[in-house]
Amino acid sequence: MPADPLWYKDAIIYELHVKTFFDSNQNGYGDFPGLTQKLDYLQDLGINCIWLLPFYKTPLKDDGYDISDFYEVSPEYGTMRDFQDFVNEAHRRDIKVLIELVLNHTSDQHPWFLESRFSKTSKKRDFYVWTDDPKKFKDVRIIFSDTEQSNWTHDPVSGQYYWHRFFSHQPDLNYDNPEVQKAMMEILTFWLNTGVDGFRLDAVPYLFEREGTSCENLPETHAYLKKLRAELDRLYKDKIFMAEANQWPADVRPYFGSGDECHMAFHFPLMPRIFMAIRKEDNTPITEIMQRTPVIPESCQWALFLRNHDELTLEMVTQEERDYMHREYAADPKARLNLGIRRRLAPLMNNGRRQMELLNSLLFSLPGTPVIYYGDEIGMGDNIHLGDRNGVRTPMQWNGNPNAGFSEVSAEKLYAPVISDPLYGYQAINVEAQSMTQSSFLHWTKRMIRVRKNFKAFGRGSIEFLEHKNPKILAYIRAYENETLLIVNNLSRYAQAVELDMKKYNGREPVELWGNTKFPKIGELPYLLTLGPHSFYWFRLSKV
Ligand code: NOJ
Repeated sequence: MPADPLWYKDAIIYELHVKTFFDSNQNGYGDFPGLTQKLDYLQDLGINCIWLLPFYKTPLKDDGYDISDFYEVSPEYGTMRDFQDFVNEAHRRDIKVLIELVLNHTSDQHPWFLESRFSKTSKKRDFYVWTDDPKKFKDVRIIFSDTEQSNWTHDPVSGQYYWHRFFSHQPDLNYDNPEVQKAMMEILTFWLNTGVDGFRLDAVPYLFEREGTSCENLPETHAYLKKLRAELDRLYKDKIFMAEANQWPADVRPYFGSGDECHMAFHFPLMPRIFMAIRKEDNTPITEIMQRTPVIPESCQWALFLRNHDELTLEMVTQEERDYMHREYAADPKARLNLGIRRRLAPLMNNGRRQMELLNSLLFSLPGTPVIYYGDEIGMGDNIHLGDRNGVRTPMQWNGNPNAGFSEVSAEKLYAPVISDPLYGYQAINVEAQSMTQSSFLHWTKRMIRVRKNFKAFGRGSIEFLEHKNPKILAYIRAYENETLLIVNNLSRYAQAVELDMKKYNGREPVELWGNTKFPKIGELPYLLTLGPHSFYWFRLSKV
């Protein structure tokens, strides 16, 4: 069968860091041969696309987003050959592979920067953004507000300041320099030729700087991305870009262009509102942001997520909403980082199984492609006492053996300690134990993935929110070609009833998708449904 160029619309993406997954050579770090060994697990889970966090050569001061050689696999993780084997083995199982293209910055250990800072006249000077005047671009926000005081850092070697939107050890590249544009294009081509299926474009709003602006989402940035896209399409037909643009919906919209920029972009503003909706037991945060979400070109797709490798960012909410989120989900100040919350899904839900299921029901049924963060399929916990975001990046918990079955080295040698508290520790939460219990969260997640894959409407369908009188219920129709799905979520911790106006579907029979259970036929009268605490229904509306 010829490959479907829109494959990403039906994908179920699994995000992981090779470092965290499985250590095959006993150096305390997960590696590519280890990840390859675990592909059967991922295939069995049902995911069909892996998004790999950066694995390039790095001093590891920003978990690999600080790259010192774009062309090398970091030796802890294996060799280029190991990477290539992994890609081939993933493909053999019909699993696509997305990798990171970190365009905005490099590590300060990258040879370009070492040369650039060496002298004001060095050949690579213009690869970065230098100034004598650190008041330049003074209105630009600081993203890592807990660690950085300024977007400029003074360099004692050459006596000027260099620009950085993230850590001071991550200088921003200067996209006004055509050589930078060309160098990054070459990196794109190099990795494309390894057979990967696409790229997450890291920190993509910040490529250019212009005085008097926020230096975000500038037209020059979009113009460059369009050039990259043209090159991607010239070389291959079915490879994609997924933009990380942590922005309001109206500002993310241009990253899709007219179908000629990025194929996908994360829906950042939706994510915290899902957490607000469940805690407030009110559907408004979700319906409001969905109303504010612009239509995107036919070939484009939102990437939806609950948690990822960063803090749960609260940049795309009001101050009042942020205070609410902090109060409800991060009472312990240690759980906070920058503007966000450094916790995993299960602890955020107080390990509440029904709440975790409900959030996944939303993740898997709202319009877009779901992205699961590794470990969340078994309800892994976190460790807010590790620095930065490391507490949500601990080793995958495979079994109850020492080091959670992740590695056989002595515990001190692990890149990070495994989670070992009584509630979320590896002896309680691990893949092996959950594989043996049909009622486990792992089995539940597998079923959800399987059900979703039976219907294209989840990934490709339209959405219509149904109006009714119970704000604790969020109900919508997803429709695509001859599929019509009705999704009903109870955001409340108590049982609820709802009457839905379903006249339009008079004569149809709702069939619940998980058990294939027939419900009473829809008629002229309002359709009554009752739902238990935090429960949900996914129906197909069958034409009997
Ligand atoms: C976004 C990544 O998700 C984050 O982990 C990283 O620290 C910044 N970009 C800087 O590269």
